[in-house]
This record gives sequence, C-alpha cells and structure tokens, in this order.
Amino acid sequence: MSVDLAAYLAAERRTIDAALDRLLPGEEVWPQRLHQAMRYAVFGGGKRLRPLLVRACCQAAGGDPELVLEASCALELIHTYSLIHDDLPALDNDTLRRGRATVHVAFDEALAILAGDALLTEGFAVLARYPEGQRWAERRAEACRLVAQAVGSVGMVGGQVEDLEATGAAPDAGRLERIHRAKTGALLGAATELGALLAGADAEVRARFARFGQEFGLLFQIADDILDVTGTAAELGKSPGKDAAAGKLTYPLVHGLEEARQKREELAASLRGAAQALEGEGGVLQALVDYCAGRRG
Ligand code: IPE
Ligand code: IPE
Ligand code: MG
Ligand code: MG
Ligand code: MG
Repeated sequence: MSVDLAAYLAAERRTIDAALDRLLPGEEVWPQRLHQAMRYAVFGGGKRLRPLLVRACCQAAGGDPELVLEASCALELIHTYSLIHDDLPALDNDTLRRGRATVHVAFDEALAILAGDALLTEGFAVLARYPEGQRWAERRAEACRLVAQAVGSVGMVGGQVEDLEATGAAPDAGRLERIHRAKTGALLGAATELGALLAGADAEVRARFARFGQEFGLLFQIADDILDVTGTAAELGKSPGKDAAAGKLTYPLVHGLEEARQKREELAASLRGAAQALEGEGGVLQALVDYCAGRRG
C-alpha cells in the first residue's frame, strides 16, 4: 500500500493549522501588533514539515498522533521564529518568505526580532504544557530538554552562527556538512525523536528516530541549497539566487550542482531504507523522503 502524499499533506496541514490557531493569542489580544506579526509569520503558508514529522514518527513508534498535536505545533512555532530571525538584515537580509514580505519588511525590524523571541518562548510554553495531565509530566520535561538542546548554541543557533561566519570563506566540505547538520538537521532530528519519545519509545528506538531525522535534515538542506539555484520565487515563496550572491557555503558551491544532486539522491536512497526499517513498507516517512528529494517548492 502506498501513501497518497498530496491528500495526506493537505489533511495534516489543515489539522496542524487549526491547532496553531488555537494555541496562538488572537490579533485582538494585547499587544495587538506583536500578535499580528506572530500570526502573519506562522500563517504564511509553511509546509509544516516539522509537526507532521513529529506526528508521523509518533505513529510509527506505536503512539497516537492526536496526543502529540500541540507538542508538534511547538516545533512549528520555534521553526517560524528561526525563519523570522534568519531573514533579518543582520543575517540573510531577505525580503520574501512563504510567498510574502518578510516580517521585518511588513512590520519593522524591532517587531520582527521580538515576534521571533515570543514565538520561541511560546514554543517552549506549549511543550511544557502538552500533552496535558500528570501522567505525561516526565515526558514533557524530557521533551523540553531535547528540543532546547537541538535549537540552542550547539544545535540550530550554533549552525546559524557558523553559517554567517563561513559566508565568503573558502569551500570546505566538512565545515559545510557541520553547518547543515546543526542549522537544519538538529531541529528535524528533534522532531523525529520527539514523536518517538511521546509515543513512549525506549532510548534505543528514540536514538534510531533521532538519527533518521538528522539525516533527513541534511537531505532537506541540500535540497534547499539546490532549489536556491534552480527554483523560482513562485515555487519557493522566497527569493532564489540569494546564496550565491551572498557567498554562502552551500552544496552547489562546494561540490557543484551535479554532484550536489548526486549526494541528494544517495542520501534519499539510504533514508528510504531507514524509513522502511522504522515504519514498514510503503509508509508516510518513505513518501516524505521522496517528497523532500523531489520537491520544487
Ligand atoms: C526553510 O524551512 C528553512 C530551512 C531549514 C531550509 P522550510 O522549507 O521547511 O520552510 P517552510 O516552513 O515550509 O516555510
Ligand atoms: C535556514 O537556512 C536555517 C534556519 C532558519 C535555522 P537558510 O538560510 O538556507 O534558509 P532559507 O533558504 O532562508 O529558507
Ligand atoms: Mg540562513
Ligand atoms: Mg535564509
Ligand atoms: Mg536556503
């Protein structure tokens, strides 16, 4: 049995968007402009890849994806903060995101910084609160710990720092992989591990899911680098060609476009095998690997 990925993605996005809407303060709540900016960023048409990976991995590890809906949304809040800050003039200085003006352009720079701060904080508040009930208290605490480590100074933020430091530097394949594993792989590894953790998986199974997500994250960022060269603004919802113009260390820059594509295919092939081992034949994780390797937007 194979998955109807388009239908699955559409249904998941509806469920996740509805939960995000419940979790975020309304635009009429003080301070209104802050909540407007947070909602503008979150509801700008993201793929919701991190929450849907949490839910898919929870299911693959024998848990109930409904139980982890809010916790999965916490990762989307944290991811959205990272995008707002990634686009700031001091970082990538981008004006287009999710098909519209970036938050610092649509609002202003100070509010973009603060909306990012608030989304990061809200993300951890949601992780600390859900799933609700005393029986999940230990898993909630562990969830906060694992996500904090993934997005902190030795994870996503560290990767962002080295991404900036490496801008304009000489091609270095090891450094490039380290950046991608940190800035993108760490949060995706936290997503897959979180699903397994909340399903009640033991340490060994959790580690297998974490590894899958980290490799998936590397694949995802290689694909993102390639799309920056080959994609259009309409497909991506962000301005293409920015990496080369800025002198970013990317897979196409370090390895050339053809070899970058080859690496993407090799990694996708090995991830298909890993997905099959985690969830059996023809499951959602395998379809997500194909989607990620082949996507145009
Ligand atoms: C963009 O992430 C940032 C990277 C890690 C490459 P996504 O491509 O998942 O962005 P959205 O959430 O769909 O907008
Ligand atoms: C972003 O990487 C990674 C994080 C936001 C942590 P990029 O800078 O390549 O992402 P895009 O291309 O702007 O989405
Ligand atoms: Mg960046
Ligand atoms: Mg960027
Ligand atoms: Mg990019």
